[in-house]
Amino acid sequence: MLQGIDHVAIAVTDIDATLAMYKKNFGVEPEHRETIDAYNVEVATLHVGGSCVELVQGLANDSPISKFVAKRGEGIHHIAFAVEDIHAALDDMRNRGVDLIDDEPRVGKSNSLVAFLHPGSTGRVLYELVQNRDEE
Ligand code: CO
Repeated sequence: MLQGIDHVAIAVTDIDATLAMYKKNFGVEPEHRETIDAYNVEVATLHVGGSCVELVQGLANDSPISKFVAKRGEGIHHIAFAVEDIHAALDDMRNRGVDLIDDEPRVGKSNSLVAFLHPGSTGRVLYELVQNRDEE
């Protein structure tokens, strides 16, 4: 059911400052930047070989990312697993007794469908499921 790690997401307070750090320390430039309305965040995607790091900054104090950073500081926020069919994956998780944060997928980066699992069911780590779709 899980096809691989789609991305690792890092919560930041200043996406430009973190991008500058990536350029200086790793020589990596962002591939993509986008505001995601469903979560009130800005995202920058960095490709590292075949893998992807996603920087996420809250755009308002009530954004989940802003709350996370206020409580725990900047750092790793979630790990995202790629799935082929997110509705089937969510049904499967439900049948396995996993608590879901998102009962229905939301539209995420680049028109993907995404849903978060409750960390209470997954060893205190926040996981996201991602079904990539063609951009419209
Ligand atoms: Co994500």
